Amino acid sequence: MRVLPPAFEPTCYATAPDEPPTLSDCTFYHTMELPGLGTQYGQWDLRPGIADYLGATEFAGCRVLEIGTADGFVCFELERRGASVVAFDLADDLTYDALPLSGEFLQTDAYRNGLRRIRNAYWLGHRLFRSSARVAYGHVNRLPAFLGQFDIGLIANVLQHLQDPIGAIAQVARVCNRIVVTETDWLHGQYDDVKGLIYFDKDNPYVWFQVKPILIEAVLRRLGFGNFCISHHTQRFVEDAEHRGDGSPIGRRTDVDIPHFTVTAERIVPIGLPGTTATQEVG
Ligand SMILES: C[S@@+](CC[C@H](N)C(=O)[O-])C[C@H]1O[C@@H](n2cnc3c(N)ncnc32)[C@H](O)[C@@H]1O
Repeated sequence: MRVLPPAFEPTCYATAPDEPPTLSDCTFYHTMELPGLGTQYGQWDLRPGIADYLGATEFAGCRVLEIGTADGFVCFELERRGASVVAFDLADDLTYDALPLSGEFLQTDAYRNGLRRIRNAYWLGHRLFRSSARVAYGHVNRLPAFLGQFDIGLIANVLQHLQDPIGAIAQVARVCNRIVVTETDWLHGQYDDVKGLIYFDKDNPYVWFQVKPILIEAVLRRLGFGNFCISHHTQRFVEDAEHRGDGSPIGRRTDVDIPHFTVTAERIVPIGLPGTTATQEVG
């Protein structure tokens, strides 16, 4: 099992590369329109369902922590909606939490190169959208203190990849007044009557669990959140990335709508000064 080394916890925001990466050195996880470069195609096309994906939340004027930003599609959309965003993703020296017995897959050069190319896509978009988002890298289960507090924490399609999804919910909840949790519901309709389901899900080396909305709600309730809204929607899955033994992806067209759910909630007693939003930034 993974034990996080103490050394990886960052103490400051990342700086953008002096020159943006070239398009040929990028991989897009999401289909997105890049200013001046047109449509880039990714595994997921969240564009038609993005309002549902964000839990119909109002982001204008809010300081937002976005966990698992990947190529930044959601980050840039949040900015377009008027948010001030801190985008967070895995530190360079980390990989996805590897499942026990998953072998060396997550350590291969091809796999690490894939992560690097998605990060490049983020920085290319950051430049082209003239983004003001700040970026930090680390592990969601140990959010760095310098990030401060947020009006809204958003964690979308990250829980399934974590050895400790409950710990991650607690980490995000600790620093925000409102929370949006979105996950692919691979087990849609199955086991919905089982309270608090956390289910070992798929047979790829970086998907641990299917966490059901009722469990997320129960955890957040314990952490002082209320006013829950659970919604169900579908999102377009364009391409299934299977992986060769060396970790390099093989794209397989799918074009199917996959069930998702979104849980939104707000802290019953807000953090921060009474009567203000949680816009304190530390460091
Ligand atoms: C499936 S993608 C989801 C991307 C985007 N959030 C979305 O909703 O489409 C998972 C993202 O979470 C990031 N991630 C995986 N493990 C993480 C961790 N322990 N801490 C922070 N980010 C992580 C990955 O690098 C990737 O960018």
